[in-house]
Amino acid sequence: MSTVDSLRCHQPAMFRCDHDVVVNASNGVSLSPGSVRRTFGSVRALLSCLRRGRSLRYSGEPVTQWEHSLQTAALALQAGASVHLVTAALLHDIGHLVAADTAMGTPTLQGIDDRHEQRGAHLLGELFGEAVTAPIRLHVVAKRFLVTTAPGYGDRLSEDSRRSLALQGGPMNPTEVDAFRKQRHAEDALRLRCWDDIAKDGSAPPQRVERFLPALHAALRDPVMSCDDLMTVWRSIETTPT
Ligand SMILES: [Fe+2]
Ligand SMILES: [Fe+2]
Repeated sequence: MSTVDSLRCHQPAMFRCDHDVVVNASNGVSLSPGSVRRTFGSVRALLSCLRRGRSLRYSGEPVTQWEHSLQTAALALQAGASVHLVTAALLHDIGHLVAADTAMGTPTLQGIDDRHEQRGAHLLGELFGEAVTAPIRLHVVAKRFLVTTAPGYGDRLSEDSRRSLALQGGPMNPTEVDAFRKQRHAEDALRLRCWDDIAKDGSAPPQRVERFLPALHAALRDPVMSCDDLMTVWRSIETTPT
């Protein structure tokens, strides 16, 4: 048995996604529980899912989903963020990538809020704690908070972000603003949101995901392999034809 195969045997149990049916019913995105398990069953599956972003344009932006994720993580690293927040930055849009029909482009063009922040945080909860999943879960509502409280913020949003803002509820009312401020990871969510907003630079030098894997490994709730082994897993994924 190869190293990679033996690692796979020791990876955590499959994900359960009890909210799949609710997500499907509310937004029309096809995502069966079976496909979720195949996609997010392990660290290996998570990295494979992240790699799918390489071939996915970020609609309306000059970058792919992959470049957007890596640029967001690079900004977090540059800012000296914790391993948990760097990991959250890298994985913050993974909920987009698990949707079965990603070829349709950004769901906002179909008038759909895919609730990717909820889906991603829920699935990642099998591998990571709240310090990773909460900023991801809150990165959409953080946009609503900033639109409401930071003058000029809304004017700087990209076209897709403005379109999704309308679908996600628009500006907050005072009760929602107070409730957001009280969230335990609100500050991290706001930092993530600011990196997210600018990580769409089509002329930025390419990033290598290996740069962020030590942080991802350190952030795992229950590491079942060494960081070197995780790198080996990634290299095997990278060289597997899609
Ligand atoms: Fe997002
Ligand atoms: Fe994003």
